[in-house]
Amino acid sequence: MGLAQVGIALKVLMEKKRRRLKRTFICILGAVAIFFIYLNCNQKLNLDRANLAPLSSEKPQWEDPGPYHVAYPRNYKFIMDDTPTCKNTTPFLVLMVPVAPSDVAARDTIRKTWGNEKLVLGQPVETLFILGRPGGADAEQQQEKLKQENLQHHDLIQSNFQDSYRNLTIKTMVMLEWLATHCAEASYTIKIDSDILLHVPNLVKLLLDHRTAKQNYMTGCVWWNSPVLRNPFNKFYMPSSVIAEPQYPPYPLGMAYVMSLDLPSKILVAAPHIKAIFIEDAYLGMCLKHLGLSPTNPPESTMFIVDPTHPLSSCSLSKVIAVTTTSISQMTSYWERSRQPDAKC
Ligand SMILES: *[C@@H]1O[C@H](CO)[C@@H](O)[C@H](O)[C@H]1NC(C)=O
Repeated sequence: MGLAQVGIALKVLMEKKRRRLKRTFICILGAVAIFFIYLNCNQKLNLDRANLAPLSSEKPQWEDPGPYHVAYPRNYKFIMDDTPTCKNTTPFLVLMVPVAPSDVAARDTIRKTWGNEKLVLGQPVETLFILGRPGGADAEQQQEKLKQENLQHHDLIQSNFQDSYRNLTIKTMVMLEWLATHCAEASYTIKIDSDILLHVPNLVKLLLDHRTAKQNYMTGCVWWNSPVLRNPFNKFYMPSSVIAEPQYPPYPLGMAYVMSLDLPSKILVAAPHIKAIFIEDAYLGMCLKHLGLSPTNPPESTMFIVDPTHPLSSCSLSKVIAVTTTSISQMTSYWERSRQPDAKC
């Protein structure tokens, strides 16, 4: 092969290479162009969505809280709260009962039992129910029924968040918002679940006791060393990426906790500094800790019983403040028994 031939062969080779490069370049250019067109369209779509959003809801688009947090704080609004409680009255004690919108049976039972004790040891006591928006296919009908129910009793406080078990923390926080706004002049509140028997006279007696603090006071069944549960199959599972500490700060169990009414506004000041987890009572413990506060044990361990052995004796019923029950009928019969004065211990 002569030198000239090698030269030609090389030229052909380089020409081929250049063509291949050109093709590759055009391909890349094409891909980039398509990508940009796609991006642009997507942006337009998002813009359209954003423009449409005010039609469906007036809220701006919020960040998704993820599985372990709840959407709080947000500017939720009360869509029902025409109660005279704390507006025209100054109760000593406000009973706050979080309840599912559909659970009218529990509300009616409470209205007939411990929720109907209005003057206890000379102290005015009032009962309110707190709920969010009903969900599901019949939400509108449910809402209509709630309005009727409230017309009759004027004891429903409803906020416009979506009511669900996973949203309990939101319910607690909007409850505190309501109390901070309206009940700062009242003395104490108890947040109490709808399946609990409440012994109102025993509670008032405790609150009137001169040893009971009038401020920064929170009591109930206090968990001092509640572990953060790391089993992914547990209902209260919490990964260490969300909470690194092995334990929650101390907090009273959600079944029933008592607060002096200076606390709601203080907790609301702390709340924006701590991302709200879905475990409402533990979250309150985190807020208390941020405030440098701690709950107080009740004077007797017989006062708050989360996991009792049924049936309860007349003696334990006479000492209890709050105890879990298994049904509405059990709660009713315990309440009737707890009113009888002849308890023997
Ligand atoms: C909790 O409430 C927020 C606000 O209404 C809502 O966006 C969210 O879907 C609710 N979450 C659940 C699990 O119901």
